[in-house]
Amino acid sequence: MNEPQKLIVNGGRRLEGELRVHGAKNSALPLLSAAVLAHGETVLHNCPALTDVDAACRILTHIGCKCRRSGDTVTVDATNVFGGEIPDSLMREMRSSIVFLGAMLGRAGRCRLSFPGGCELGARPIDLHLSALRQMGADITEQHGYLDCDVGKGLRGTKIVLSFPSVGATENILLAAVTAKGETEIHNAAREPEIVDLADYLTKCGAKIRGAGESVIAVDGVERLEPCEHSVIPDRIAAGTYLCAAAITSGELILTNCCPEHMNGFLQVLETMGTKIYTYGGGKMYISVKKRYTAPPTIRTMPYPGFPTDIQAPFTALCATAEGTSVFVETIFENRFRHVPELVRLGASIKTEGRVCVVQGVKQLSGAKVCAAELRGGAALVTAALAAEGTSEIGGLQYIDRGYENLEGALRSVGADIKRI
Ligand code: EPZ
Repeated sequence: MNEPQKLIVNGGRRLEGELRVHGAKNSALPLLSAAVLAHGETVLHNCPALTDVDAACRILTHIGCKCRRSGDTVTVDATNVFGGEIPDSLMREMRSSIVFLGAMLGRAGRCRLSFPGGCELGARPIDLHLSALRQMGADITEQHGYLDCDVGKGLRGTKIVLSFPSVGATENILLAAVTAKGETEIHNAAREPEIVDLADYLTKCGAKIRGAGESVIAVDGVERLEPCEHSVIPDRIAAGTYLCAAAITSGELILTNCCPEHMNGFLQVLETMGTKIYTYGGGKMYISVKKRYTAPPTIRTMPYPGFPTDIQAPFTALCATAEGTSVFVETIFENRFRHVPELVRLGASIKTEGRVCVVQGVKQLSGAKVCAAELRGGAALVTAALAAEGTSEIGGLQYIDRGYENLEGALRSVGADIKRI
């Protein structure tokens, strides 16, 4: 029985150099689902090599698509989609597989999938997805942990008001609406860049969408979508994680193939902490950090364009060695501080109370054996270990590999002493 993999990090090395940012996981996944709607071969460039992307390709293959990867281009031939059931085993691999529901209903008219279930961040309900699709005419019965969905005479456009700007629900409604009969309006829609990327792809396939990126999105249903070529936007959370790694080691980094305008929710926090950030054109930006940076004021995670919940964990690691005390309020998920006890093992001084986390900056972290319990928390442990004195051992890499392409290779290329065993 082979031992689970671990990262071994010898901290204290300054990061210095240039890093290319990989394509966005949270854009690639809905785009792979959207390819189901196009009758033919979709080509997705800048598609990151992540285990979540592999899981999405397994689901596509299971429902009749042909997927193949060459470099960072993934091709999805959705000529023959036979719909049907997404088995529990595949659904359990990745809870965001719920975003296949809208596309399957749009293309095949029916779908049976198991409840995605909770994950490491909390309950992850899908009530907003289901109520919206039901409003569009889908008949969805929930029994024995399975969802049986059927569009009957076909999905119809309607006005949908989301009680929360849910990213996944907005994506599922978009995917169901583009070939529904009539017009759909989504009010209080999510405004994330990944929504805009999805709408750009669907529009190139022939969909009629207005207002993506705003709180009201209007979709005029069309008969049929034809495939197209598309490039996945850069991953703003991976970029932000690299910036935290540079900052915590008082280093300096150039990032390429990134999109600074998608990162305003946290770039100005980094600037208030005393880091120097320059953004150039052409997807390039630079960060440099003097010795000790100051703790930011209260950080409250918010839907886009606010401070993104996905970068909260790496930021709590960064603030663990800031000058002063920071307060984080996690307004999006109910259980997103699971990295905190592990950061405390690395010498951080952090207290959590419900959705609030208070980080008291300490002078120096010290290496320890820690384990990731979810994706971004795992990134936080790597970030902290880079600055911790001595050797750290990080387990739970299966979580980190879901959202970061070769994280240790990237960090090693700019000076970190990190290896996977
Ligand atoms: C997407 O998840 C991302 N995942 C998450 O990234 C990200 O944290 C989240 O958006 C918020 O930005 C993907 O895009 C694959 P939500 P999603 O629906 O769509 C509640 C990462 O680390 N809610 O906007 O699931 C929900 O419980 C992952 O890359 C309902 O109550 O996020 C949560 O509290 C983690 N009912 C809040 O809304 C619903 O029907 C935000 O969820 C749906 C959501």
